[in-house]
Amino acid sequence: MSLKKNIIALRQKKAIVEKGGGDKAIEKQVAMGKMTARDRVLALLDVDSFHEYDLFVEHEERNFGMETKALAGDGVITGTGTMNGAPICIYAQDFTVMGGSLGLKHARKITKIMDHALKMKVPCIGINDSGGARIQEGIGALAGYGEIFYRNTMSSGVIPQISVILGPCAGGAVYSPALTDFVFVVENISKMFITGPNVIETVLGEKISQEDLGGARVHAEITGNAHFYALSELECFEQIKELVSLIPHSNQQKAASIEPKEPVSKFNIENIIPSDPKQPYDVRDIIHALTDDSKFLEIHELWAANIVIGFGRLNGETIGFVANQPMYLAGVLDCDASDKAARFIRYCDAFNVPIVTLEDMPGYLPGVDQEHAGVIRHGAKMLYSYSEATVPKITVILRKAYGGGYIAMNSRHLGADFMFAWPGAEIAVMGPEGAANIIFRKEIMEAEDEDAMRQQKVQEYIEKFANPYVAASKGYIDAVIEPSETRELLLHALEVSKNKDDHRPAKKHGIPPF
Ligand code: HXC
Repeated sequence: MSLKKNIIALRQKKAIVEKGGGDKAIEKQVAMGKMTARDRVLALLDVDSFHEYDLFVEHEERNFGMETKALAGDGVITGTGTMNGAPICIYAQDFTVMGGSLGLKHARKITKIMDHALKMKVPCIGINDSGGARIQEGIGALAGYGEIFYRNTMSSGVIPQISVILGPCAGGAVYSPALTDFVFVVENISKMFITGPNVIETVLGEKISQEDLGGARVHAEITGNAHFYALSELECFEQIKELVSLIPHSNQQKAASIEPKEPVSKFNIENIIPSDPKQPYDVRDIIHALTDDSKFLEIHELWAANIVIGFGRLNGETIGFVANQPMYLAGVLDCDASDKAARFIRYCDAFNVPIVTLEDMPGYLPGVDQEHAGVIRHGAKMLYSYSEATVPKITVILRKAYGGGYIAMNSRHLGADFMFAWPGAEIAVMGPEGAANIIFRKEIMEAEDEDAMRQQKVQEYIEKFANPYVAASKGYIDAVIEPSETRELLLHALEVSKNKDDHRPAKKHGIPPF
């Protein structure tokens, strides 16, 4: 055959496979409001940048009628491309091909692109739209998942791994994402569960919809399995591009820096915290007042809202922000907030992203629920991850810094490089009311006017301890600063920390309170 004919034959072969599960299955996919796997990849990557591999891989299963089934690309598209001009490895499961279920060859396509990403030190993005292990393949499918999980773990902390959930994902199709760094979900489209509603009905006799079992909001708000939530696939892709522009593409690279811009003037840092210390405010306004161009990409926006985490830039460089959120539960630390912050701190540390901590919280949340939910173990994760982190670590105490929370929020004692406090900061073992009731209990009970005495003692306590000067007098705070000086001091501290060289004792690995 002439080369021309060969080329035509190749194009015809490609066109058949690129159709995935065929017109009918594609119609069904589109009717569900979902893009096809191929369209997703093309929409996510830079125009004309996608190069596909292993298009002609076929499954080898010979049981349960599989011998006669041709599965286009074995139900998954894999390849490389660029995003914002930077190289990316990607795979996308195709639900139109046997529900995107994962057989051994399907898995091997994924592990091949994962190996490539790890070797080439580029981010790996997985679009998951799959009913999990291909039931007909049995052990082959399980082996395939095991090989994916192993690679997820090997890549962890070396290259960014991003999972996008764009369909009803079951079993292994959610365990791999759970091992990755960031999980994206889309309203009405994303579903994640270990066992689907039909299995639950068979085994437990309970009827539940896919949405109620594991819809996008369930995972963005309740379980915390999802880090980003969007209303449409296209919005989700924009979020991914923004994240990828902000993070380093391996643990040996820096995030791309951009021309710094001053924060926009509408965020006036002097006016954000109310004069009444009991009044809440949105700590994100403080972050916006500090970051370049007032930009901030929040992670886990809907889950454990009492702590805010995310990326912004200072002087053009990516910084991880961890901030208590007084607007929600007064910004207390609880089990979920600790998990959320601790994992993010480890992410920043693994990828050499400096951490700025903004502190305003009354401590750990007391109560039976929290104690029984394991607040001791969960809360300890924050102590562990801040202590372990060797990236530049800067804390600004905005207002309240009480009790264990003072220590946990990157205190000097856990290795903060720079500790700043605003003049209204209150640093003490507990809030003035609680403290006065305990240490002046006798005087208050014996007073003629208990309330007046309580107020007097609360005031005494505030004057003595609830200020930044006691900590500053001991050198635990490096400088008490005016709010308007904060950005400049952060920029300076980061500049000074550029060549920070900090080491931990040699060990195989630590044993964090998982
Ligand atoms: C083979 C599968 C499949 C699977 C779906 N399909 N899941 N084929 N193996 N795991 C096929 C269906 O038979 C159907 O084929 C097509 O994909 C579309 O599926 P539907 O059921 O029509 O779609 P929908 O109603 O949207 O339901 C999607 C679903 C459901 C919720 C994912 O299909 C489902 O519950 N599947 C099984 C989920 C599951 O339990 N997976 C195993 C997990 S165990 P046709 O030909 O009719 O179009 C696992 C082990 C690893 O993953 C665990 C590691 C820790």
